[in-house]
Amino acid sequence: MIVDARGRRFRNLRVSLTAACNYACTYCVPNGRKLMAARNELTVEGFLQAVKLLIDVAGIDKLRITGGEPLIAPGFDDFVRGLGRLALEDVAVTTNGQFLGKKLEVLQHSPISRINLSLDTLNPLAFRRLARSGDLETVLSGLDAALDRGFKVKVNMVPLRTGNLDQVLPLLDHCLARNVELRMIELMNMGHLKSSPEFHRDYVGMDELLEVIAKQYEFERADAPYDSTAVRFAIEGKGHFGIIANHSEPFCASCTRLRLSSDGHLYGCLSSAKYQPMRDLLSLPIEIAREKLQDRLALALQNKQPVAFSGETTVMKFIGG
Ligand code: 5AD
Repeated sequence: MIVDARGRRFRNLRVSLTAACNYACTYCVPNGRKLMAARNELTVEGFLQAVKLLIDVAGIDKLRITGGEPLIAPGFDDFVRGLGRLALEDVAVTTNGQFLGKKLEVLQHSPISRINLSLDTLNPLAFRRLARSGDLETVLSGLDAALDRGFKVKVNMVPLRTGNLDQVLPLLDHCLARNVELRMIELMNMGHLKSSPEFHRDYVGMDELLEVIAKQYEFERADAPYDSTAVRFAIEGKGHFGIIANHSEPFCASCTRLRLSSDGHLYGCLSSAKYQPMRDLLSLPIEIAREKLQDRLALALQNKQPVAFSGETTVMKFIGG
């Protein structure tokens, strides 16, 4: 097991199954053009082999499937079926929900029990303006269908001052009514937003979000697991909500995340464009692959930021946050 001076090690693997996305959210892409698949994405067998090695060598026990939009990856069904044969404690998926209803059958026959749904507004016009694609009603019915089938769902919202700040309370109500935890993600200073006027215009921090919520609800801080990214709050008798406070309350010091991009690169930190290759290890004899991976993980771990999130220009959009 590889551990750094702060006691951090990799436990949570986030696999970006494809860089392609059927949305073009304003905070993710600058020009309205949807993200395309990377030129050289791993095959399903490649992804599964990589995950297996990372379970063995890094001690990964939790996995989240991201993108791009993972539900449009051609290999999604086979990948999740393959995961069923691996020793993972927890498997989850992050999706924009447009194809969630259609994939529930596949999800139910997979090790996935938890779904994070990205949903930034309940206003159909604002939805089209932000996502520049998709259909709100389809996403909302996908959410309810997933709940009906017993999946644990969380909703991710990125509050933007000029985009959807008026939607914090409506989304919170929608979630509380369904016993779903709403998680507001502070806008990250990443990709085209890095140090841009847009970032400064739209960023809304935790204190201000709490002020908005306090207009309607009383709440108090609740416990969160050691390596959780969210600051959680309880509204008595109604449920919980969380804030992923990248900037206000950074969680770098207890970060256990490792990312595998769809083109086979390992990233030790969302805030660093530095990566270690993994693809070349997949065709080596297992003992040699393990040894080399050990060294590369040690390097990837060194890429983690000491305490605070600083942002990066390239990574987010294709490694899925
Ligand atoms: N800041 C905060 N969250 C972001 N996401 C994508 N880009 C950003 C950003 N710049 C969110 C998506 C999704 C999650 C994986 O990351 O909305 O919910």
